[in-house]
Amino acid sequence: MFWQIKSYEEYQNAYKKSLSEPEEFWGEIAKSFQWKKEFDSVQSGDFKKVDVKWFEGGILNITENALDRHLEKRGNHTALIFEPNEENSETKKYTFQELYTEVCKTANMLKSSGVKKGDRVCLYMSMVPELLISLLACARIGAVHTVVFGGFSAKALSDRINDCECSLLITNDGGFRGEKTIPLKEIADEALKTCPSISKVIIHRRTYSDISLQNGRDFWWHDLQSSAASECPAEPMQSEDPLFILYTSGSTGKPKGVVHTTAGYMVWGAYTFRNVFQINDKSIYWCSADIGWVTGHTYLTYAPLINGITTVMFEGVPNYPHPGRFWNVIEKHKVSHFYTAPTAIRALMGQGDHWVERAELSSLKVLGTVGEPINEEAWIWYHDIVGRKKCPVVDTWWQTETGGIMISNLAGVTPMKPSYATLPLPGVEIVLKNDKGTDLTGNNIEGNLCIKRSWPGIARTVFRDHDRFKQTYFSTYEGYYFTGDGCKKDENGLYRITGRVDDVINVSGHRIGTAEVEDAIDLNPHVIESAVVGYPHDIKGQGIYAFLICDQTLLDQEEIKKSILKTVTQQIGPIAKPDKIQIVSGLPKTRSGKIMRRILRKIASGETENLGDTSTLLDPQIVEELKEGKV
Ligand code: PRX
Repeated sequence: MFWQIKSYEEYQNAYKKSLSEPEEFWGEIAKSFQWKKEFDSVQSGDFKKVDVKWFEGGILNITENALDRHLEKRGNHTALIFEPNEENSETKKYTFQELYTEVCKTANMLKSSGVKKGDRVCLYMSMVPELLISLLACARIGAVHTVVFGGFSAKALSDRINDCECSLLITNDGGFRGEKTIPLKEIADEALKTCPSISKVIIHRRTYSDISLQNGRDFWWHDLQSSAASECPAEPMQSEDPLFILYTSGSTGKPKGVVHTTAGYMVWGAYTFRNVFQINDKSIYWCSADIGWVTGHTYLTYAPLINGITTVMFEGVPNYPHPGRFWNVIEKHKVSHFYTAPTAIRALMGQGDHWVERAELSSLKVLGTVGEPINEEAWIWYHDIVGRKKCPVVDTWWQTETGGIMISNLAGVTPMKPSYATLPLPGVEIVLKNDKGTDLTGNNIEGNLCIKRSWPGIARTVFRDHDRFKQTYFSTYEGYYFTGDGCKKDENGLYRITGRVDDVINVSGHRIGTAEVEDAIDLNPHVIESAVVGYPHDIKGQGIYAFLICDQTLLDQEEIKKSILKTVTQQIGPIAKPDKIQIVSGLPKTRSGKIMRRILRKIASGETENLGDTSTLLDPQIVEELKEGKV
C-alpha cells in the first residue's frame, strides 16, 4: 500500500504533510479504499463547535472493504483462525470467501428477523467466530452494533440495551472462559425482564447448557442462519452513518454510548494498523483482546480484515489450562504479530520464563501492548524473553473514543523506548496543558494530554446526548479534545502516558469509573456512604479500593464485605469488584462537603506520610483513623 511508512524519514514527512495539507493527505489515503461513490469533501467541522465530519458525500459499506474486495485475489487466503478455549479441541479456520458467505447468511438472518438499517443490535456473546461474524453482518445491512462484554452483569446489560433501544439481541447459550462457563443466556433472560425494546433474541449454541427459550421471542442461530441465502448486497452507507456504539466509563454518571461512524473509523483503523504493526500480506496477526472492548473491534475485527490479513481469535484466557497457553497459540498458528495488554504480560512474567522458552516462537516479528501504561520491567521482559530481543515492541496509546491508535512507535521504523508510547501518528497533533489550560512547550514537560485537531477516527458523539459529548471531552480546554490522561514528554520529544488524571480507574486495562462503582456500592443496604479510588496493583496496574461508612446493624465486617462484592457483581459485573474494602467511621471532607480524594488515593497506595494540606478538612482527625485502618 502506498501509504505504508517504511522509514523514519517517511514518517517525518507523512507527519508534516498530515498537518500542513490534511485534505490532500487523507484524501489520497481514503481513495485507496472501496467506495460506492467517492466523497465530495475530506473534512469539515472543528473542536469548538464539536461538529466533526470526514469524507462527506461518500457512500460505502465497510464490509465490502473487509471482505468483498479481497475475494478475487485472496478469496482462499485465511481470514480468521479461531482457537478454542480447550487446548486440544479443533481449531476453526475461515477463508475470506467462507467468512464472506457466513457474514452474508447472518446478515440475511438479521434482515428476515426484522432488523433494518439504523436499528441497534446488541451482541452479548463469548469469543466465538459468530461474534465477529455478527459485527460484520450488522455492518453489512447498516444496523448499528453495540457489543456488551460477556463479563457484564444483567443490570449492566439491560442499562446498555435500554439506553440505545436495541431491537434484537444475539447471545450464546453460554460461554467458555478458562475453567468457567458463563451462563450468558440466563444472564440475558434476567436483563430482558426490563428491556421492552427487544423483540427477538437469537442464540448461538456453544456450551450446550440447559437454557429456556421464550416462545415467539427466542430463536436458535442454527435454525435461522443455516437456511439463509448466502449472498446479501451491502447496504449503501453514508460516510457519517453510525457503525457502532460502544459503552465506556468516565468520571461521572453512567457509561456513555460512544458513537463511531463509518468511513473515518475505517480509514483510521486500517491506516494505523498497517503502519504501527508493519504488516505484510503473509502476516498472521493475533490480538488477544475481547471483542467486547474497542481493541477487539478495531484491531481484531475491522482493521486486519480491511488490510486483507489473517486475524486470530482466542476464546480462552492466558493461563488456561496452563501458563504456557499464549505461547503455545503463537507456536501453533505461527503468529507473526502479537498484541496484548500489560496485565497479561505481567501475570505471565510472574509464572517464569520456562513457559515461554519451551515454545517455538520464531514466527514472531512484532509485539504490541495496549490498554494501560506498561512498566519498564514488563516491557523489557516482553522484548527480551518473548521477543528474544528480535521483535520491536509497539506501545500503543489510544482510547475507545479515538477509534484507533494515536501515539505509538511504528514497528522497526521509528524509535522505541521502554514504557514510552513515543510519537504521535500522522494527523495527531498533541498539546500538553497544565491545569490552568496553558500550553506547555518544548521537551522535558509533563501535563494533561490534549489533541488539537480532529482525525478521521474520532468518535462523533455520545448516543442521543451530544451535550454530554461536548461536556466530557471538549469543555475542560475549549477547542481541544481532552483525553483524561496525564503525559510526559522526554528530552527527545518522546511521549509517555502516565495514567488517568480523572476519576477513572484502569483495572487490567479495563476502564472503570469510580462514581459508577460508588453508585453500585451505595445500593447495598448496609452502606451509608462510599468513596472509591484506584491504587497501584502489581498485576492489574490499578486495583479498586473502597472506603465505606456502614450502618452498625450488621456488625460482622466480613459479612458486610461479602455482601458489597455481591452487590457490585450484580450491578456491574465481577470486573468492578473492589480489591480492598476499608470500613471507616468518616471520610475526609472539606467544609463544603467535598471528599478529598487526593488523600484517599495516598492512603490506598500505602503512602501515609506527605498527605499534603489537611487543614481545610472538616475533621482532620479522620485521616489518622484511615491511616491506621484495617482492610
Ligand atoms: O488511560 C489510557 C489507557 O486506557 C485508556 C483508554 O481506555 P479504553 O477506552 O478502554 O481503551 C483501551 C484500549 C485502547 C486511556 O485513556 N491506555 C490505553 N493505552 C495505553 C494506555 N495507557 C498507557 N499506555 C497505553 N499504551
